[in-house]
Amino acid sequence: MILRLALPQETAALAEVEAGQPRAAGWGKQGLDAEIPQPCSRVFCAEENGQILGFLALRAAGGTAEILNVAVDARHCGRGVGRSLLRHALLELGREGVLHVTLEVAQDNVPACALYAKGGFVRLGTRKNFYGPGRHAWVLGADL
Ligand SMILES: CC(C)(COP(=O)(O)OP(=O)(O)OC[C@H]1O[C@@H](n2cnc3c(N)ncnc32)[C@H](O)[C@@H]1OP(=O)(O)O)[C@@H](O)C(=O)NCCC(=O)NCCS
Repeated sequence: MILRLALPQETAALAEVEAGQPRAAGWGKQGLDAEIPQPCSRVFCAEENGQILGFLALRAAGGTAEILNVAVDARHCGRGVGRSLLRHALLELGREGVLHVTLEVAQDNVPACALYAKGGFVRLGTRKNFYGPGRHAWVLGADL
């Protein structure tokens, strides 16, 4: 598996992965096209045999970063792709001097909560109704 920055011409493949995961942020190709050129944006992807297996999008500025969107191809879930993407992103952020990373995750999103907990994230707070009525978010953070 290769972990690297996604290229602007790969947004259709990223969007296809995202479309198969309703709990991802739902940016679609248009959102990804708008995100990748942003100066603070980093969209990392995992590739195997020329196929995009998943991606993790974040923004970094001023020593902090926020993870905004993560999706792994449903056919490749449970084999370490998400963990590898998260580890790679945190390593790259550490290299560029980022000290603190945050994100929001739905409290009932068991796979994502477990992924982040194993990745060293801790609960910083709650955002009530963040994803709609009765659908609360954890605010998670990790120091690098
Ligand atoms: C969350 C997601 C990215 C995990 O990707 P993945 O490649 O399947 O995860 P990995 O195989 O790397 O697993 C890493 C850890 O995540 C957790 N995890 C993954 N799938 C899980 C599941 N179905 N149930 C519980 N925990 C799970 C485990 O802690 C696992 O560690 P372990 O294998 O040592 O137990 C993937 O399920 C996904 O795309 N979900 C939909 C989109 C989403 O929720 N995005 C996050 C929004 S904030």
